[in-house]
Amino acid sequence: MSNSDRLVLALGGAGTVGSGIVKALLDKGFKVAVISRDNGRLDRLRTFISPNTKDNLFTIVGNVGSEDGAEQAKKELLESVGKVTDVVSSLGFSWWQGGPPHSQTLKDLHWVIDTLLYSTFVSWKAFFPLVRDDSSCTYTFITGGAEKLLMPGTGFLTVGAASALSFCQILREEYPELPCKLNQVKINAGVAAPDRMAPGYLDHLDLGVAVASLVEKPNSSHSVFTVSCPADLKTVLLDRKL
Ligand SMILES: NC(=O)c1ccc[n+]([C@@H]2O[C@H](COP(=O)([O-])OP(=O)(O)OC[C@H]3O[C@@H](n4cnc5c(N)ncnc54)[C@H](OP(=O)(O)O)[C@@H]3O)[C@@H](O)[C@H]2O)c1
Repeated sequence: MSNSDRLVLALGGAGTVGSGIVKALLDKGFKVAVISRDNGRLDRLRTFISPNTKDNLFTIVGNVGSEDGAEQAKKELLESVGKVTDVVSSLGFSWWQGGPPHSQTLKDLHWVIDTLLYSTFVSWKAFFPLVRDDSSCTYTFITGGAEKLLMPGTGFLTVGAASALSFCQILREEYPELPCKLNQVKINAGVAAPDRMAPGYLDHLDLGVAVASLVEKPNSSHSVFTVSCPADLKTVLLDRKL
């Protein structure tokens, strides 16, 4: 199937990580659908992508982090855009350093788990059936790497990231044989747009190109690609089927 016949659903596609992936997928000729709770974010995404790819970007306002919201967004997507062939999930948030546990509330912990784990689970449950039984389809998770996050005040981020990592591991183990290619890119570094780069950070555009290549022609399934520095993006790119 050519890229122009494929429709990638980018969950979290209006975010920092997701927007780099969306741009790269569009530049490779894919059609891309993005669901966001925030129309303003979708407007910003439309001005960020390459102008000649605009007709291939489909946007829906919705909340894929709730069961009803995900089902509603799925219905709208299937009716207005068509068959989904690939999913990339980069839900969550960029950073959390709210303080040591004794200074936090249960509400803070709920928010972290809700944003990193529940949204990933709920959207996976809604959208995975669309691609699960087709060997030309892919589902790719983008996660952080919990073990590298411990520094003062980041405890709950570590809990949230670890829960998303565990969820991905559970999927690999519960579903060892799948027609759909199920992969994970685990990022042990900050990710930012070029104007917000800091030492050790990955450019979201470079990450986007690597993830788009993985979606385009994955060689493997059930793989975890760990990216700790820009050079590691090659391992993601190398998984491309030649
Ligand atoms: N940025 C980094 O430095 C970095 C580094 C390593 C790993 N990561 C990982 O990459 C992922 C994305 O990070 P990011 O920097 O792109 O964050 P971001 O800019 O805050 O974007 C996150 C996206 O997730 C969506 N989302 C969050 N909670 C949701 C919920 N409850 N229901 C529905 N959608 C929800 C947001 O949707 P809306 O558009 O609806 O708000 C947003 O588009 C996270 O898993 C993070 O751990 C990021």
